[in-house]
Amino acid sequence: MARQAKKTGRPRANNKRHLGDFFLMQPALSNPVLSIRGLSKSYKGGLQALKSTDLDINRGEIFALLGPNGAGKTTLINAVCGIVTPTTGRITAAGYDTRKDYRSARSLIGLVPQEMHVDIFETVWAVTSYSRGLFGLPPNKAHIEQVLKDLSLWEKKDEKIQALSGGMKRRVLIAKALAHEPEILFLDEPTAGVDVELRRDMWALVRKMRDRGVTIILTTHYIEEAEEMADRVGVIAKGELILVEDKATLMKKLGKKLLTFNLKDRMATLPAELKEWDLALRDSGAILEYTFDTQADRTGVASLVRRMGELGIGFNDLDTKTSSLEDIFVSLVHAPKPATIAPEASDVRS
Ligand SMILES: Nc1ncnc2c1ncn2[C@@H]1O[C@H](COP(=O)(O)OP(=O)(O)OP(=O)(O)O)[C@@H](O)[C@H]1O
Ligand SMILES: [Mg+2]
Repeated sequence: MARQAKKTGRPRANNKRHLGDFFLMQPALSNPVLSIRGLSKSYKGGLQALKSTDLDINRGEIFALLGPNGAGKTTLINAVCGIVTPTTGRITAAGYDTRKDYRSARSLIGLVPQEMHVDIFETVWAVTSYSRGLFGLPPNKAHIEQVLKDLSLWEKKDEKIQALSGGMKRRVLIAKALAHEPEILFLDEPTAGVDVELRRDMWALVRKMRDRGVTIILTTHYIEEAEEMADRVGVIAKGELILVEDKATLMKKLGKKLLTFNLKDRMATLPAELKEWDLALRDSGAILEYTFDTQADRTGVASLVRRMGELGIGFNDLDTKTSSLEDIFVSLVHAPKPATIAPEASDVRS
């Protein structure tokens, strides 16, 4: 299919548009739009910015890549986009090898880079249209107009880039990346240093792109951005992808709260009268733990404490702990061995 498309010149993005619901019928992971295998990068001077990394991105998902400064996020993105030459590994985009078939693969990818590289003496319209031409596509004024309108740049289309505010310049970077109708869109810190309103606009735009079938991979330092936007989250630290997780699963963990009772008397087994609560005994029965969902209508805490009183189960003190995505992120990133810090996290990579 991809091969056939190639004969027509550009491996037309949106194969799915021509194939109707074919892709929708595929199980998510059987058809990754982007596949990364054994990707590593050592820069000159010996710094290993990326250790051997495997990652599949599903068609149509929003994937958020989190990690501290210098973790290797931009290196990974730039390797996919052909800006950085990988030391090892293989990447395919919609089946095209990004090294052997660079032009075909790259034409499917839009990149909003972390850094600004735009001719500031050109107009918004010229910069955006030119970008489309770079990928060998014929001019399409209607498409460029739509992109600029989507980004609230239409009124500024004849302005030179230098006359725009910082936030507007960021929008121009996005317009450039969308000019050639990519199937896969990388946004490297799209909302760094932008105001709240622009951030919300960008979120809305990203959702709109996704609704049109575009796959989106974004990096961010704002955990709430990942919470708000992502279908899946990846955490990268010191060049290592240490966690890949569905956001819904993460949010479930996030919504959990742990209530710990230090019991007056050790308990050998849990009494049958307490079986309706999700309880566990620790420290040879000295500690009773209750895990509950903070998002549930009733936490069950009050009724549990009452029932314990009725059963004559006393405690010296109690403590609560809530995990957040931020907690998980911080512990993962600073842990020597991530898997032991977040034992619940599925798909923890080493
Ligand atoms: N061209 C380069 N030459 C040498 N080292 C580089 C180069 N680009 C990046 N590095 C190094 O590789 C490591 C990863 O950098 P990278 O830009 O991928 O991090 P990042 O996760 O994107 O960080 P940030 O959140 O700050 O954008 C860093 O230690 C950085 O100094
Ligand atoms: Mg970066």
